[in-house]
Formats: sequence, C-alpha cells, structure tokens
Amino acid sequence: MFFGAVQLGLMAACVVLFVPMGMAGWHLSRNKVLFFSGALFISLAVCIHLIPYFPSFFPQSPSVLFQQDLSNSCISLLNDVVFQPNSDGFNWNWGNKSRSLDCDFQKLGRVDVSDLLNGSWVVVAGDSQARLFVVALLELVLGEDEMEAIHGDLFKRHSDYGITVGGIGLRVDFIWAPYATNLTEVVTGFKRNGTYPDVLVMGSGLWHMLHFTNYSDYGASLRLLRDSLFLSLPVTRKFDAGFDSSRVLHMFWLGMPTLINELLNTEEKRVKMTREMCDAYDQELYESKILRRDGGSLLLLDVETLSGRCGADCSLDGMHYSDVVYEASVHVMLNALLIESRQRL
Ligand SMILES: *[C@@H]1O[C@H](CO)[C@@H](O)[C@H](O)[C@H]1NC(C)=O
Ligand SMILES: *[C@@H]1O[C@H](CO)[C@@H](O)[C@H](O)[C@H]1NC(C)=O
Ligand SMILES: *[C@@H]1O[C@H](CO)[C@@H](O)[C@H](O)[C@H]1NC(C)=O
Ligand SMILES: *[C@@H]1O[C@H](CO)[C@@H](O)[C@H](O)[C@H]1NC(C)=O
Ligand SMILES: *[C@@H]1O[C@H](CO)[C@@H](O)[C@H](O)[C@H]1NC(C)=O
Repeated sequence: MFFGAVQLGLMAACVVLFVPMGMAGWHLSRNKVLFFSGALFISLAVCIHLIPYFPSFFPQSPSVLFQQDLSNSCISLLNDVVFQPNSDGFNWNWGNKSRSLDCDFQKLGRVDVSDLLNGSWVVVAGDSQARLFVVALLELVLGEDEMEAIHGDLFKRHSDYGITVGGIGLRVDFIWAPYATNLTEVVTGFKRNGTYPDVLVMGSGLWHMLHFTNYSDYGASLRLLRDSLFLSLPVTRKFDAGFDSSRVLHMFWLGMPTLINELLNTEEKRVKMTREMCDAYDQELYESKILRRDGGSLLLLDVETLSGRCGADCSLDGMHYSDVVYEASVHVMLNALLIESRQRL
C-alpha cells in the first residue's frame, strides 16, 4: 500500500504538471490553464483520499500484522500449557494461573475449527515437526477414516502434501522445507505467484544444526528469511489508512523442540545437537528479530516450552514428541487466530 500510494502520488503530480502544460501548448489562455490545473489537482486529491475506502478497486497483497500487540497480554500467555500423565499418555491444558484463565482459551472442536478456517488457505512449511503439526491440524477437521486414507501420502518422506477439505473449502498445504533458505524460497514464491495464504506456519533449525552445526550461518539464513518477508509481504500496521482487515496474513513460527540428548537415535546427533548448540541456535533466532515478540511479524508457537513441559516420557527419540505436543501447538495457533479475528470485529 505504501509503495502504491507513493507511485500514485508521483503519477498525480505528473498529470497536474504536464496536462496543463500540454494544453498551454495548444494555445489555451493562461487563466484557463490555471483553472484546469486547479480542477485536476482537486479531483486527483479527492480520488487519492477515497482510495482507501474502496480497496477492492485496487487489489493488493494481504496485510501482515507486525509487532506484538501489547494491549493483548493473552497472546503472550498462549504457550503457557501444562501436561499431565494419564492412563494412555498425556493430557494437556492451559496453566490454571488466574491470568490465563481470564483469557478464556478454548480447545476447539471440529465445528469451531471448521467455522474458523472456513474458506481459508493454510500453508505449513518446514521439517518433520511441521509435518506432525499438519497431522494434528488435519485430525481436528477430518474423521478417523479420512485420516487413515491420507496417512500414506502425508508421510511420504521429504515430499510436499496438499489437501482440500471438502465442505468447508479449507486448503492445507505442507511444503517440505527443512532449511531457512527453503522457507525463503517459499515466501518469494508467493510473491512470484501473486497468491498469499491466510495462515502461514514456518519453522526450521534441526536440519541445519545436524548438517551444518554452525549457528552464525543459521542466523544469517534467518535474517535473509526476515528480509524476504519484508520484501515479499507488504507490511501494514493495524491503524494505517488502507488497512484491510479482511486480508490479514497470519504468520507463525513453529519453534524447535527441546532436544533430549541421551535419547537421540544416532551418535552424530548426540555429538552435534548438544544443549549448548541449541542455546546458540535459540540466540540466533532471537537476534534475527523474526518473531513478533522481538519486533518481527511471526508469532511463536513455542514447541520448545511445550515439549520441555511434556518431558522425556513424552518423547519418541529425543526430538519428536507424542501427538499431544503438536495438538497443543495447533490449539495455541487457533486461539491466536480467534483472538485476532475477535479484535477485528
Ligand atoms: C491448578 O494447578 C494445580 C497445580 O498444577 C493443581 O494442583 C490444581 O488441581 C489445579 N486446579 C484446577 C482448578 O485445575
Ligand atoms: C463456510 O462459509 C460458507 C460461505 O461463507 C457458508 O455458506 C458455509 O455454511 C460455511 N460452512 C461452515 C461449515 O461454516
Ligand atoms: C533446501 O535448501 C537446500 C540448501 O539450500 C537445497 O539443497 C535443497 O534442494 C532445498 N530443498 C528444497 C525442497 O527446496
Ligand atoms: C506457485 O505456482 C506454481 C505453479 O502453479 C506452484 O507449483 C507453486 O507451488 C506455487 N508456489 C507457491 C509458493 O504458492
Ligand atoms: C559458519 O558460517 C559462517 C557464515 O556462513 C562462515 O563464515 C563460517 O566460516 C562458518 N563456520 C564454520 C566453522 O564452518
């Protein structure tokens, strides 16, 4: 919108300047030129000020909510989830401190989720954690039989997966993108295609840690991703003129899980993916300022905290966790969407 307005302004200035000059060339009197010039100036000014109220004439990219909305502390309490062992695994719920109770977080059922995501396009890009996140999301909107039917395709190693959930017109795409550089390609791809999802969930780090084990390089790739978000997705602040609330792109960062070194299933992983390395990668994420809490545009789905709270008994291989962790992360995302859509009403 910002660039659009600047270009329109320049164009208007040219028209105001050159049309009367052209007319003067056709031997109009000076008074007439002044009159035309004034009339043109006024009508262009009126048009430009009306444009924000008729955004549909000027198709634009979606707006991106930017910066933590500090007035909504509930957003910052979303990841405060606790787990309790039960007979067949774990239960989860939001912590029962009074502060998060006030926020009225809800575990959404199939009907609520269908309502919330009706007609939406959700893209989840990342590694195997992201795939497990997609599974947890689809389990909320599909029946058991349908889940079973797609299981094979969904779990094809290192491949993309997409499904349209009939009835509610929900499109879910999983894009295999194990490195931050792959995520950057996904983001620039949206710009190239001129199509943007409604919800974008991204995450990466584990592959980089295992195959490059170089936190500063990881940080550099995150900064490139942040730059590509800036360039590809025009950022509008909520109270800017022209903020079109029906086209908000909600973006989330799917954090890395807590790694439990002694449970990792290869020697290489145990050597490279240490506590210290995880801390260094976390620090790079912070310094990249890609997250909303640090001034960026992605809201953190804090899988590290969630998985850490669920604990070692909840982990399969020190890296992937029981479904319940991804189910909780999906509900964190859905509640964030609920809060943000309520704010728009
Ligand atoms: C709140 O949490 C505490 C400790 O986790 C627990 O003992 C208590 O039963 C919980 N209360 C409710 C109302 O869930
Ligand atoms: C989805 O939205 C469409 C159009 O807005 C509406 O007709 C339909 O009933 C909605 N479906 C659900 C399940 O909410
Ligand atoms: C992801 O990026 C890596 C390194 O930049 C590249 O080798 C690989 O082909 C990419 N994978 C996909 C699926 O784009
Ligand atoms: C862009 O469009 C191409 C061709 O339709 C498609 O294969 C690709 O997945 C799209 N990319 C994104 C990021 O939507
Ligand atoms: C880590 O990555 C940085 C930036 O890409 C590079 O300059 C540096 O040489 C790498 N360090 C090692 C030990 O590979």
